Amino acid sequence: MADIQNCDSCSINPLDLFERVTTQGEKVRSLKAEKASKDEIDTAVKSLLSLKLSYKTVTGQDYKANSPPIDFTPMNNGSAMAEDEDFVDPWTVQTSNAKGIDYDKLLVRFGSSKIDNELINRIERVTGKKPHHFLRTGIFFSHRDMNQILDAYENKKPFYLYTGRGPSSEAMHVGHLIPFIFTKWLQEVFNVPLVIQLTDDEKYLWKDLTIEKAYQYAVENAKDIIACGFDINKTFIFSDLDYLGKSPGFYKNIVKVQKHVTFNQVKGIFGFSDSDCIGKISFPAIQAAPAFSSSFPLIFKETKGVQCLIPCAIDQDPYFRMTRDVAPRIGYPKPALLHSIFFPALQGAQTKMSASDPNSSIFLTDTPKQIKTKINKHAFSGGKDTVEEHRKYGGNCDVDVSYMYLTFFLEDDDKLEQMKQAYTNGALLTGELKKLLIETLQPLIAAHQQRRKEVTEEMVKEFMTPRKLAFDF
Ligand code: TYM
Repeated sequence: MADIQNCDSCSINPLDLFERVTTQGEKVRSLKAEKASKDEIDTAVKSLLSLKLSYKTVTGQDYKANSPPIDFTPMNNGSAMAEDEDFVDPWTVQTSNAKGIDYDKLLVRFGSSKIDNELINRIERVTGKKPHHFLRTGIFFSHRDMNQILDAYENKKPFYLYTGRGPSSEAMHVGHLIPFIFTKWLQEVFNVPLVIQLTDDEKYLWKDLTIEKAYQYAVENAKDIIACGFDINKTFIFSDLDYLGKSPGFYKNIVKVQKHVTFNQVKGIFGFSDSDCIGKISFPAIQAAPAFSSSFPLIFKETKGVQCLIPCAIDQDPYFRMTRDVAPRIGYPKPALLHSIFFPALQGAQTKMSASDPNSSIFLTDTPKQIKTKINKHAFSGGKDTVEEHRKYGGNCDVDVSYMYLTFFLEDDDKLEQMKQAYTNGALLTGELKKLLIETLQPLIAAHQQRRKEVTEEMVKEFMTPRKLAFDF
């Protein structure tokens, strides 16, 4: 048998490899039973050991008879990624294409499923509600096991929502609002409990922040999240630094995940290196654990294995591919996911907005004047250089950031389509398109700021207190 212990083994499907180990194991057993020659047995055993080693290299786990690798999707962005391919992980979202990330390709590479019309229609049928604008316009474009959630809902089985935020600074940008706006809609439509994790520990580990500052940002960000309109009776928001010490159930799940993921695996998924601190290496287990309902005993009481649905942008998927891989091995259901695309940086769709670059985005703290200046000055335009040329050839919505932003926030599908036509045929100029965006965003941000002002310290405390929610488990 060919020696597949070298790098070639990386390209072998883990399931094929599992079967090859099993077959080779059987061969060794029958050679021994037949009392074959020592040489023959030694050669077969050597081959078996080599296959087992390859299996461990590929999956990060020891081979166990009758226990094939479950839900094994490639866990990295592909080390052999072509230079022109997009890169997406929790810290970097990059592409060389002015139109932004190729999400169709990403679906294939990440092994998730497209949210197609059939699924959108099913959501409408099952809930009796018009699908959210983010579903209709393809902003939420990918999922894992959403049909299972709909089956559960139809059969009156409970599920819960889980999302989160890494509080890296006081101000969140409009991109961060996307999953929260959508989660609020899901909570209203399905009437289910929601947990929101604030990973202040993650930000302490990754950024130049003190523990105290990271916690302070968590509380400030909680105010912005609450201002999105979540129901206080159905929502628990927690800071890791605070909740971990209060919930043995949460910590037990973290440790269970830690036991089932190897250093090799997290290196493959997250690109950690030997010089990363051990806090980073073990952090993914902390983001995984809220996907298991026993992390919240006050909410779910004795009810075991309540399934979880996680709405997030697709950059967070590596955490949850890992979580889904571990779940059945520790006796829990795999969480389902709904993924959104990225809100691009003002400068263009090649990268995501950054909280540390104030000009890369519109922040929830921006004044009407700042919004106007940033859009006029920085929003990348798909228009032509002169009015004459623009009228003649029209603009390109595929790369125009103002148009992209309007697709996120203008809920009127017909108006959006008219605007696209007018811009593409040159009737609408770049300045006019930018004005429409400014007039859409200014009242939206002002309304958010007003709602945030109304969030009291008592409300934050209540949201962040571990407690029973308005559901009987
Ligand atoms: P964070 O703080 O980077 O992002 C918070 C949420 O916003 C999404 N997001 C975006 N969505 C659209 N366009 C953008 N430009 C954009 N930038 C960020 C993220 O995908 C995320 O959903 N480690 C996480 C916190 C976390 C979490 C979770 C997120 C903990 N548990 C469960 C989602 C689900 C983080 O730092 O997110």
